[in-house]
Amino acid sequence: MEKEKIIEVKNLGASFDGFNVLSDVTFNAHPGEVTIILGSSGCGKSTVLRHLLGLYPIQKGHISVLGKDISQFTEQEQKQLYLQMGVFYQNGALLNSMTVGDNVALPLKQHTFLPDNLIEDIVFMKLGLVNLEDAYHRYPSELSGGMLKRAALARAIVMDPPLLFCDEPGAGLDPISLESLDNLILNLKEQLGMTILMVTHEVSSILRIANKIVYLDHGQVVFEGSVRDALSSDVEQVKQFFSVINEGQKLNL
Ligand SMILES: Nc1ncnc2c1ncn2[C@@H]1O[C@H](COP(=O)(O)OP(=O)(O)OP(=O)(O)O)[C@@H](O)[C@H]1O
Ligand SMILES: [Mg+2]
Repeated sequence: MEKEKIIEVKNLGASFDGFNVLSDVTFNAHPGEVTIILGSSGCGKSTVLRHLLGLYPIQKGHISVLGKDISQFTEQEQKQLYLQMGVFYQNGALLNSMTVGDNVALPLKQHTFLPDNLIEDIVFMKLGLVNLEDAYHRYPSELSGGMLKRAALARAIVMDPPLLFCDEPGAGLDPISLESLDNLILNLKEQLGMTILMVTHEVSSILRIANKIVYLDHGQVVFEGSVRDALSSDVEQVKQFFSVINEGQKLNL
């Protein structure tokens, strides 16, 4: 039986100033899974995410998210969809002028009519999920890089989005902080049933958390499949990417 799809990208194409970035991108993501988008710098990974978020108009092809074709959306529908997606960027930018608690509360204040005491409870709970309860009253400048990322993750999930998009969330973290961030992401997947689409180059993260890999090259998907299939793939780019892992590690998977 074919797996249910929560994201469907079909023949997506995009060019900027006459320069072709995506020529024909087709892949699916399935509910409750972590899908990793891989590919060399500048190949268009973030561009694919921005299309899924509705930040770029679709020039060619189709995208369905949560069963709906987003190219047909009105601005209002687009806004509604956007609220169902959490976004966690590379630099995780929190606003420096506000406490961590207020930063995490921001989406709830902007998009809901919940009373302040309830918002506070939700924020505490979400900070708890990322092990940052103690940082509620602190300012971003008082946190370490790893803590800032976890705070940004708490903000990304504060509205309980069914979909979470992460663009290089682990960039700049030491291996131990990276592992704890991965474990948090796995918890979100398992406890909250989130579907996660992530761009990352961290092989260790991929082995820990990925269900599916989509490899982009020259504007196309050159590989789409499980981690296990990726590790034994004949596709040159995929082979090269995973060449850093030894045979023993592969056997453990
Ligand atoms: N709005 C835009 N206007 C002009 N060019 C753009 C725009 N968005 C993306 N591009 C171009 O598309 C190409 C792919 O960019 P993108 O950020 O998607 O790459 P990436 O795969 O995420 O790279 P990296 O791994 O370095 O983050 C780049 O050449 C970029 O300049
Ligand atoms: Mg990018």
